[in-house]
Amino acid sequence: ITDKNVGDWAAVYVARKINEFKPTKERPFVLGLPTGGTPLEMYKRLIQLNKDGIVSFENVVTFNMDEYVGLTPDNDQSYHYYMHHNFFDHINIPKENINILDGMAKDYKAECQRYEDKIKSYGGIHLFLGGIGPDGHIAFNEPGSSLSSRTRDKELTMDTIIANSRFFGGDINKVPRLALTVGVGTILDAKEVLIMVTGANKARALQHGVEEGVNHMWTISALQLHRSGIIVSDEAACSELK
Ligand code: F6R
Repeated sequence: ITDKNVGDWAAVYVARKINEFKPTKERPFVLGLPTGGTPLEMYKRLIQLNKDGIVSFENVVTFNMDEYVGLTPDNDQSYHYYMHHNFFDHINIPKENINILDGMAKDYKAECQRYEDKIKSYGGIHLFLGGIGPDGHIAFNEPGSSLSSRTRDKELTMDTIIANSRFFGGDINKVPRLALTVGVGTILDAKEVLIMVTGANKARALQHGVEEGVNHMWTISALQLHRSGIIVSDEAACSELK
């Protein structure tokens, strides 16, 4: 299947899950969301499904995976900006249902604890969507992250800084060095996790993640510990699977 189909598949899956749940204001569907290049097609398709009246986000609460430290929400490279621009501004989600870590918070620890507490206050996340980095990270859980980590500040590796510099005009000096991110443990607590993987540059990470053992150097491999973990990938990303 092509890159576009991964997004389509994921969007239809998300819409089906929300509809099956029949969310209400008192009992919302709680969705974990990623940014990056990979989920763009999924967001486009979800916007269309919303416009066509097939899925409503009125009773959906969202938690984004991560945010760069030091970028204001109106900075066009912040994940706040990305999410509003690529998704939230085009669907019927109430503003108060949107949760994104505050990368401008003075006290990272307090901000991360607030986030964990808020997730808990909804009874946890029903479906956590994500992507992976070429180094196998999920959210910004870089190689070496504890597999039971919770939301915290994390220094980005040079691999990630280089990979993400494409969004900063190719200038690695413009990429923030620090991010706030949910932990591997936070993701594993979700009832279901769906990870999208596209492109040949993710093939090595996917191979390590699904064919090697559970390993903190390839944090995607923690998905092996989850009872309802799904990976949706294209041919190129599967090219190193045995
Ligand atoms: C995004 C995130 C990251 C990305 C990963 C892949 O919120 O947490 O883990 O999912 O870096 O990024 P793309 O899709 O741009 O290749």
